[in-house]
Amino acid sequence: MDSSGTKRSYGFATTALHTGRGSTQERENSPALFLTSSFQFENAEQARAVFAGEEEGNIYSRFTNPTVALFEQRVAALENAEYAVATATGMAAVTTTFMSFLSTGDHVVLSRSVFGSTINIAKTVLARMGIGVTYVQLSDPKAWEAAVTPATKMFLLETPANPTLEMVDLVAVAQVAKSRGILLVVDNVFCTPCLQRPLELGADVVIHSATKYMDGQGRVLGGAVVGGKKLLMDHVYPFMRNTGASLSPFNAWVLLKGLETLSLRMEKHCDNAEKVAAFLSAHSQLNGAVHYPGLPNHPQRELAERQMRRFGGVVCLDLGSMERAHRFMDGLNLVIITANLGDSRTLTTHPATTTHAKLTQAERLSAGITDGLVRLSIGLEDVEDILMDLDQALAQL
Ligand SMILES: Cc1ncc(COP(=O)(O)O)c(C=O)c1O
Repeated sequence: MDSSGTKRSYGFATTALHTGRGSTQERENSPALFLTSSFQFENAEQARAVFAGEEEGNIYSRFTNPTVALFEQRVAALENAEYAVATATGMAAVTTTFMSFLSTGDHVVLSRSVFGSTINIAKTVLARMGIGVTYVQLSDPKAWEAAVTPATKMFLLETPANPTLEMVDLVAVAQVAKSRGILLVVDNVFCTPCLQRPLELGADVVIHSATKYMDGQGRVLGGAVVGGKKLLMDHVYPFMRNTGASLSPFNAWVLLKGLETLSLRMEKHCDNAEKVAAFLSAHSQLNGAVHYPGLPNHPQRELAERQMRRFGGVVCLDLGSMERAHRFMDGLNLVIITANLGDSRTLTTHPATTTHAKLTQAERLSAGITDGLVRLSIGLEDVEDILMDLDQALAQL
């Protein structure tokens, strides 16, 4: 309650710490880890009643688990959504979403700028199932509109996209989707709900790789599908429950610990990334070939200000060729070469030869992934140390 007696919802950090708070008869303060595959019944009649849905209760951790359920509640609360279904990985969230909503003969409009594995699923699994896919330029809402056919059931996009940081006006794309009864699915991995809440801008479903900023310390894999309760209970939960894309309770427990510090970490990731982007964009070796939504000359800076609270922790630079990109990465001492992002440590990846290597060169170029592009996921180190490492690696080129 505020001083006028009006009930108000808690802020982001409080929500991440206290939503669904409770404890067992042991009165533990930190969330309990229910590391169990199944749950006991008092008697055979209770087992029958719980299976029949006449009595509430846990049955088996592929369906429900209290630690996983708390993670789901907190992710839903942070996205200001009714419901979330946790999944084993971010890709399990993507695949579960495709499979839960699409059937043979349907059509999907997919941003050209999405994570490589999402495109690989579209090209292999969706194609094999007879689901048509049209790829469009992410940033152009008119291209989304033009790609719609009578069979279109879903739009799926990332904004900002991995790794180009291209964005789209979510309100504009949501209007196109709504007016035609199409489901808008947004992968919110780069922002987390701390920086952007797509459901509030008109999306129907949000996908997360919790592996990234939600864990935030490079420990476990996880994912989530977030949205309205009826939508998820009718489509996503039954698919997840039966196919087994479930999140492990141990990983859910680690992710709950990650969520407790998400807001603090995101501020520091953004602080550091803003300084790195400013430093690199002024660097003589780079001639301004730096991508970061917060840079004053970024073509979509105004959009980023409108739909994101801050500009995120990923910065990309273009070194002109694969040879120079690899040489730059090999010259780094502090920054770690690894295929992940959203870690507490600063990480670097060369998308063209790793995360997006399975795409053709033409597909990569149409998504803006040049051979010289290097992705930096800026960590929580003292920023001067990150800048010093980048500077010495650039000097070696
Ligand atoms: C934007 C985006 N979506 C989804 C994924 C897949 O997540 P996971 O590795 O947890 O399966 C990634 C992984 O890098 C990603 O960057």
